[in-house]
Amino acid sequence: MKKITIAIDGFSSCGKSTMAKDLAREVGYIYIDSGAMYRAVTLYSIENGIFDGNDIDTEKLRKEIRNIRISFRLNPATGRPDTYLNDVNVENRIRTMEVSSKVSPISALDFVRTEMVAQQQAMGKEKGIVMDGRDIGTTVFPEAELKIFVTATPEIRAQRRYDELKAKGQEASFDEILENVKQRDYIDQHREVSPLRKAEDALLLDNTNLTIEQQKEWLFEQFNKVS
Ligand code: C5P
Repeated sequence: MKKITIAIDGFSSCGKSTMAKDLAREVGYIYIDSGAMYRAVTLYSIENGIFDGNDIDTEKLRKEIRNIRISFRLNPATGRPDTYLNDVNVENRIRTMEVSSKVSPISALDFVRTEMVAQQQAMGKEKGIVMDGRDIGTTVFPEAELKIFVTATPEIRAQRRYDELKAKGQEASFDEILENVKQRDYIDQHREVSPLRKAEDALLLDNTNLTIEQQKEWLFEQFNKVS
């Protein structure tokens, strides 16, 4: 069977990665969480005195961006890929509220996007890839054979994120998460470079009232139509 490229874009915390991961596993494709890459650059910026939450030292980040190596390695315990930053496992550290609250300004920088997009395109050269993010169908893989744009209400997305953090035993406040979800939606949609928008040829999926199972079924139907 010929391998295709699958781009899954949409708002934050709307279950994109769950569906992308499931699909990739079932069909034997590589899964790449592009948001994890922007999160890793953000963690690097926090830990190296580049971003304190107010000002970004863009000159330092511009100089260092090419030395920031991001990779994914399968974690045998979870069966899922963990994110590595310069060969250190940062999977848990990139999922904190601190990184969530600082990632959108970092990912709005043009030179950060140029570098990440180049790395993502290299990862997808052979096709057989499912990548989720904000600009995959519009910028990274505009020729993708299957493009999905996922959305759900901010409240349901915040609730899912809250449940996820709680399940991992992390501290979480629903109001803080809802505020963060709305703030990221705004910045992601209004930035100059590659703003979040649905590609014209993407299929729209509003999963506010769908279970994970229903969503999975819908996605498989779409995959079977094009592959
Ligand atoms: O997908 P996730 O919510 O982990 O992404 C974190 C942030 O990374 C997003 O809010 C967005 O600012 C940025 N991002 C991006 N382009 C992508 C993926 C994520 O700008 N392709």
